[in-house]
Amino acid sequence: MQLQTAAITGVGAYLPDNIVTNADLEKIVDTSDEWIRTRTGIHQRHLMNEKGKATSDMAAGAIKDLLEKTNTDPLDIEMVVCATVTADYNFPDTANLAAMKCGIKKAFCFDLNAACSGFLYALTTGAKYIETGMYKKVIVIGADMMSSIVNYEDRTTCVIFGDGAGAVLLEPSSNDFGIHDSIFHGDGSGVEFLYQPGGGSINPASHDTVDQKLHYVHQNGKPVFKAAVNGMSDTVKRVMERNKLTNDNLTWLVPHQANLRIIDSVANMLDFPKEKVMITIEKFGNTTAGTLPICLNEYENQLKKGDKIVLTAFGGGFTWGSTYLTWAY
Ligand code: UT7
Repeated sequence: MQLQTAAITGVGAYLPDNIVTNADLEKIVDTSDEWIRTRTGIHQRHLMNEKGKATSDMAAGAIKDLLEKTNTDPLDIEMVVCATVTADYNFPDTANLAAMKCGIKKAFCFDLNAACSGFLYALTTGAKYIETGMYKKVIVIGADMMSSIVNYEDRTTCVIFGDGAGAVLLEPSSNDFGIHDSIFHGDGSGVEFLYQPGGGSINPASHDTVDQKLHYVHQNGKPVFKAAVNGMSDTVKRVMERNKLTNDNLTWLVPHQANLRIIDSVANMLDFPKEKVMITIEKFGNTTAGTLPICLNEYENQLKKGDKIVLTAFGGGFTWGSTYLTWAY
C-alpha cells in the first residue's frame, strides 16, 4: 500500500486571559521571582479562573482558532484526538466534549494520555489515519488545565505549571512535506517520580485521599530533570541521524517547555544553536500536553514551507520521544 504523507496544515491555540506572575505567587507560597526565573525560566503563566470552565473549553478554544485560521468547516472534521492528563471527567473523553462545543458532529473523538509527551504521541497517532488514506482531516490537540491538579501550597510544583491548549490540523500532504519519522519510548518505573497518586483505580477518591493530598501532582524534580535531558537529547540525536539532519540543515528544534535549564541542557548536549530553539516557557510555564502546539502557534509567522523541524518531549510515565517533520505551508 502506498502511504500518503500527513502534514500539519494549520495551528491554533487558547490561553486563558488570567495571567499569574511570579510576584503573584510570592504572595501565596514561600518563593521568589528570582528563584523561579533562574531555576525554571518562567516569568508568568496563564491560569483558568472562570468557574465551570475546564480542559474541554480550552481545547474548544484552540480548535475554534484553528478552524477560523484555516477556514475549515467543522462538519468536514473526521477525527479528533486530545492529549491531556486533566480530562474534564474520567469519562466521557475530553475530545468528544471539545468537538461538541465547536460544532464538530461527524468525527470520532478520543483522548490519549502520555503526560507531557501526549501531544507528540497523538500527532503520530493522528498522522497514521491520514497516511493510510482512512481520513483527510484530523485535529490533534494538546490541552491541560494543570491548575486543577496542582497544590498551590506546594512551592516545588505550583510555580512550574500553567494552563493552555494548542491544536493542529492534519491533512494529506500535497507536496511531500509533513510528518516523516518518530522515535518514542516508555518506562513505567518512572511512576514514582512524577504522578497524580489519587483518583484512579489504585487510590479511588475518598476522604483519606483528599486529606493526604493525593489528588495533586507529586514530583521529585531532580531525577525527572536528568531523565528529561537524557531522553530528549538521545531521541533528537537518533531521529536526526537516521533522517540525515544536521545542526545546519535542521531549521527548528521544538522542545517540551518544562524548564529553561532542561531546554538549554538538551541544546548544549547536541551542540545545537539556541537561536533555532523555540522557547515560550517564560510566558506560559509548563502546560504539559499543550506546550508543543502552543510553541508552533507562537512561532507560526516565522515558519516557512519546507522548514525541517524536530519536536521532542518528556513526561510522567516516563514517556518520551522525538518527531521529525517538514513544515507544509
Ligand atoms: O514536564 C514534565 C517533566 N517535568 C520536568 O521536566 C521537571 C524537571 N525538574 C525541574 O524542572 C526542577 O527539578 C525543578 C524546577 C522542579 C526544581 O529545581 P531544582 O533546581 O531541581 O531544585 P531542587 O528541587 O533541588 O530544590 C533546590 C532548593 C531546595 O531548597 P534546599 O533544600 O536547598 O534548602 C528547595 O526547597 O530550592 C528550594 N525550592 C524553592 N525555593 C524557592 C524548591 N522550589 C522552590 C521555589 N521557590 N518555588
